[in-house]
Amino acid sequence: MSAHLRSTHVALLLALCLLLTAADARQTRASLGRRRLRASAPSPAPIPKPIKMTHEELCELLASAPPNASLLLAADPGVFSGVPEVRFLLENAKVEADKVGRSASCPSVAVGTLLGQPAIMGTTGIGPPAASACTAELLSCGAAIDMREVVWLGTSGWSPQPGGVLNADDCSEANPSTDVTRVGDICVSPFGEGWCFKASWTEQASGFPNQCFQPPVDPGPEADFLFGYCMFANASDASLALADELPADEELYWSEMQNGTGVAYGYDAAAPPKVRDYTECAEVASESFWSAHPWDAQARSFVAQLITTSGVANVTQRDVVAVSAMEARGFLTAIYNHNANAEVYLPHAIVRAASNLDSIMPVAPSPDEPGVWLAQPLINEDVSVGYAFAIGTSSSAVLNMFRLRCLDAGGSDAECAFKIVQ
Ligand SMILES: *[C@@H]1O[C@H](CO)[C@@H](O)[C@H](O)[C@H]1NC(C)=O
Ligand SMILES: *[C@@H]1O[C@H](CO)[C@@H](O)[C@H](O)[C@H]1NC(C)=O
Ligand SMILES: *[C@@H]1O[C@H](CO)[C@@H](O)[C@H](O)[C@H]1NC(C)=O
Ligand SMILES: *[C@@H]1O[C@H](CO)[C@@H](O)[C@H](O)[C@H]1NC(C)=O
Repeated sequence: MSAHLRSTHVALLLALCLLLTAADARQTRASLGRRRLRASAPSPAPIPKPIKMTHEELCELLASAPPNASLLLAADPGVFSGVPEVRFLLENAKVEADKVGRSASCPSVAVGTLLGQPAIMGTTGIGPPAASACTAELLSCGAAIDMREVVWLGTSGWSPQPGGVLNADDCSEANPSTDVTRVGDICVSPFGEGWCFKASWTEQASGFPNQCFQPPVDPGPEADFLFGYCMFANASDASLALADELPADEELYWSEMQNGTGVAYGYDAAAPPKVRDYTECAEVASESFWSAHPWDAQARSFVAQLITTSGVANVTQRDVVAVSAMEARGFLTAIYNHNANAEVYLPHAIVRAASNLDSIMPVAPSPDEPGVWLAQPLINEDVSVGYAFAIGTSSSAVLNMFRLRCLDAGGSDAECAFKIVQ
């Protein structure tokens, strides 16, 4: 889940409105869709209760999945919002009541079919240690399972703009780009990084109170001799192909929604892009809450370094969005350990949808000092709306991939359809 969400001082609705007027329109469209859907859609499948299992029983459960099952994981078993982050997958899946387990490391693991295809849908618990422990437990069942791929999905706090609102290499003006992050935007990437760096207090704080400042770090996430795995820049062509297959087709999505609900959605295909790929975004995972423009600049420099190291593009922090969440480092540590030792490479990708922004304070130039930008007061934000919406859009990316695969395999429109009922 988003590293930022559970802060008691989460702020921002006004900043959101200032920066993201488009989000309002979309929220309205989404809630319109929801209202109609509530009236017309059939009740979703109930979510079965997990049965307590030993490690051996959990491995037997996984072994009961047909070969080539997709492993679909999210963090929150319902601790934060009351419903599991995989709820929309489970509501569209067929799962027998005795095929849902929980173990010491995994709060829920369901084996069934999703739009006709074998799927294992689980929650790991929130945060990198939980994500790592559960993912490693599932993969440790080894020969008992023969998975096609593993996809992580969840919510996240984003840079307000690609390249940030402020960028420390030119503090004379704000980023003139009008390309903004909107709640529900999706980042799909096989890469990820931890929030790993060594720096002193004076280095981190030396720019204060200037918001147009990038704190120096030495070294950063590349220093595995110091941090262990922290920069996950290796991905095979199979992982890149999976990431390419995942984005939701939004135009199709809203057009189908319109057919189903009769609402004329104002979806504008020329609006700023809402799905970002691995050449322009990645998750930077922390266990703590960070928010402010200097830390966004730092996180974007990590993302730019990650993408450039991976070889898929040469970018700077002026080009990218940092996606803040908690679990990439734990999840990817388990995957990288697995892939380093397994005979068959397991393709992987992470789908993160924006539930909120991480540089939440509006900024204005200092009247006294040129090039200095001051933080303005924070505004309170209702994150629950963004959180629910982001779970919906990240799930729609995964469900859309299953839908297209189902149609490719000759399934009928009805067999391959899915519904997201908020
Ligand atoms: C698993 O899926 C892949 C990709 O569609 C396919 O190439 C492969 O033949 C499948 N393997 C099995 C055992 O079904
Ligand atoms: C990433 O790939 C490089 C080059 O193939 C290899 O030296 C390195 O060990 C890999 N790192 C991880 C974490 O798998
Ligand atoms: C929506 O309905 C129209 C008219 O029935 C149909 O031509 C179109 O293909 C449908 N669009 C989608 C995306 O299903
Ligand atoms: C990135 O830059 C290097 C060095 O200029 C070049 O060799 C490489 O092909 C570039 N990679 C991409 C993906 O553009």
